[in-house]
Amino acid sequence: MIVLHQRAEIESYMLDLRKFSSSIGFVPTMGALHAGHMSLVSKSLEQNDYTVVSIFVNPTQFNNSNDLETYPRTLTADLAMLEAAGCDVVFVPEVHEIYPEGTDVQESYDFGNLEMVMEGVHRPGHFKGVANVVHRLFKMVMPTRSYFGLKDYQQLAIIKALVAQYSLPIEIIPCEIVREPDGLAMSSRNVRLLPEQRKHAVFISQALFNAKSQKKSVEETKKSVINAIKSVPLLLLEYFEIVDGTTLQPIRQWSESKNPVGCIAVHVGTVRLIDVIMF
Ligand code: PAF
Repeated sequence: MIVLHQRAEIESYMLDLRKFSSSIGFVPTMGALHAGHMSLVSKSLEQNDYTVVSIFVNPTQFNNSNDLETYPRTLTADLAMLEAAGCDVVFVPEVHEIYPEGTDVQESYDFGNLEMVMEGVHRPGHFKGVANVVHRLFKMVMPTRSYFGLKDYQQLAIIKALVAQYSLPIEIIPCEIVREPDGLAMSSRNVRLLPEQRKHAVFISQALFNAKSQKKSVEETKKSVINAIKSVPLLLLEYFEIVDGTTLQPIRQWSESKNPVGCIAVHVGTVRLIDVIMF
């Protein structure tokens, strides 16, 4: 496994690699890798000749400076996991390699209604930062396929829109959510939960699973999740929406969507967690 740090290095390495490989899989990450990330890496290894992973805590997508400062950083362990998994290339750039003109100089994108809901409302500027970093990484790595988890459902929709708008020849592969044995969706932020918070965090996924199994109307399903979260100490609901899985616009009847999706964001102390359920 080779570890590269500079933009010029990855660009020239990828140019050479493309000469003798038919497919390159790319998994962009912010590090603090867990089984969820490793499932994306495994899928990429299965489907491609070469797998490239980036580890970069992208400052432009954090609208909360405390979240950026406390974001877990575990580079040594991350590299060991990637090496053991058989990853070929890891790109670990400094901020100036991605933003040579400074982080204030960013491309503006228009994702229309996709960015007007949920994370777009509660984390202003977040998707601009995500689109900027992913677009820049795509230009450097120029992969055949790139892998994103369904837990960040809205991010996945934004990345698909980015690829379509810029006609990038990259196949975006959505990957299943990986959960802890008790159901909590895996997240790099989970390590920041105190033991008591961790115990309560499990009720996020439980509320989603229960609501799904009850097979009630959209309105009742929403109420059931909202009330379940409100009844748990230490959990503070930011939003729960049931949206069409393609347009991300809220629905009022199940018949309005072929692929309804429930998206939730909850604060557990200072840790903000998201989760998703497909209805
Ligand atoms: O999902 C993430 O970890 C990040 O948003 C991504 C896609 C690596 C961009 O920084």
